[in-house]
Amino acid sequence: MQLFHIAIDGPAGSGKSSISKELANQLNCVHIDTGAMYRAVTAIALRNQTPLDDVKTYQFLESSIFEYQKESIYVNGENLTDMIRDKTINQHVSLVSSIEYVRKKLVDVQQIIAEKYDVVMDGRDIGSVVLPQAQVKIFLTAEIEERAKRRIHEMGLDIPLKQMIDDIANRDLKDSTRMISPLTKASDAIVIDTTYLTKEQVIQAILIEIDKRKRQHAKH
Ligand code: CDP
Repeated sequence: MQLFHIAIDGPAGSGKSSISKELANQLNCVHIDTGAMYRAVTAIALRNQTPLDDVKTYQFLESSIFEYQKESIYVNGENLTDMIRDKTINQHVSLVSSIEYVRKKLVDVQQIIAEKYDVVMDGRDIGSVVLPQAQVKIFLTAEIEERAKRRIHEMGLDIPLKQMIDDIANRDLKDSTRMISPLTKASDAIVIDTTYLTKEQVIQAILIEIDKRKRQHAKH
């Protein structure tokens, strides 16, 4: 039977990860948070104290095994989940993810997983590069102030809203202007503005799209 792939892209804090997680639960398929992979690579490079702009820094990817278990990310058996949401990672991850070699390695891992499972995969280039044949492509957006508020709430932070808005805007700019696989809406993606929607309403809207696609498919 053909595998079913759902691609969810969007800028920082648009709700991709929490919505994808819930959706994958409801659909009983695998959730792949690709941002967590770029964050894990950044955490390892920073820990190794090697220059982030030198491709040699990422040689460890030649023999790295990525695994997801219950929303935790493991690299070579080490659970990096707690490390990857740190502020320093936010500051450096866009640079790391702009390196061609890193993207190639991680996209390979993501595509290999998708060859085996039904997936809900979230990131920046899923509908455009990683899973261009995905049956359903969603592009989530929200006004930046709302995204910053959600992120502060989610992380339980005590920082000024303006600081979070600047952090997110900075990352969005870098992610959408990089040369390789920038943050982009695939031409056949459905845009959902989540600013005034609850998580449940967004999930409902996506489930309706999935249903539509499945019925279209059954007809052909
Ligand atoms: O959760 P948040 O929206 O803050 O970001 P994330 O999904 O955890 O992704 C962290 C960073 O990884 C992004 O800012 C991008 O630089 C990079 N990324 C990417 O380049 N391509 C992806 N498919 C996913 C993430």
